[in-house]
Amino acid sequence: MKSFIILSAAAVLVVVFALGSGVYNMGASEKHWAITEKAITWVRESSIKAHAKNLVVPTIDETEIATTGAYHYDSMCIICHLAPGLEPTELSIGLYPQPPEFYERAPVTDMEEKLNQTKKYFWVIKNGIKMTGMPAWGATHDDESIWAIAKFVLKLHGMTPEQYGAFIVTDHGHGDHHQ
Ligand code: HEC
Repeated sequence: MKSFIILSAAAVLVVVFALGSGVYNMGASEKHWAITEKAITWVRESSIKAHAKNLVVPTIDETEIATTGAYHYDSMCIICHLAPGLEPTELSIGLYPQPPEFYERAPVTDMEEKLNQTKKYFWVIKNGIKMTGMPAWGATHDDESIWAIAKFVLKLHGMTPEQYGAFIVTDHGHGDHHQ
């Protein structure tokens, strides 16, 4: 038992020294080790699920989703998450982890799954994700706007460039519109 403890302590020390000497590459130009990526994904998914679980999805009318939701998405999100018909941007290409492209996801039809996915989107949009580049938009936007954005993100699943174009009015100024 005693030698087991000594060996374990020695192993921990070796790992600490290796990490302290810079062996782990924190550069975004190189992917994590597979095991690190698996661990981070598991922690992230579990955290989002647990935090989103008890949220109550409010009813937001379709015009609000199609105007406020689409407008905010188009002004604040496409530089990283892109949109149907949009080429990758200089910012999106260099990010690690890579921001998902929502329009490439399959449309959700099951009602319960829709609610769960909306809650998770809301929670992530409001709180961001540590050390990824995904900002916490709750610092500058109220919950109602964030629910409209979350519902619009769900609508993006499987969306074509023509459908996206119909949501977006051409005025791209976002400066003085903060709620
Ligand atoms: C500066 C880049 C950047 C901007 C701007 C940005 N995001 Fe993200 N977002 C990310 C990255 C990177 C991830 C992936 C994080 C990860 O894999 O852990 C992410 C993850 C997400 C997720 C969780 C993804 C999933 O798999 O379900 C959602 C939802 C999301 N973003 C929504 C938005 C919305 C909505 C906006 C605009 C209001 C936005 N993001 C703006 C970089 C960005």
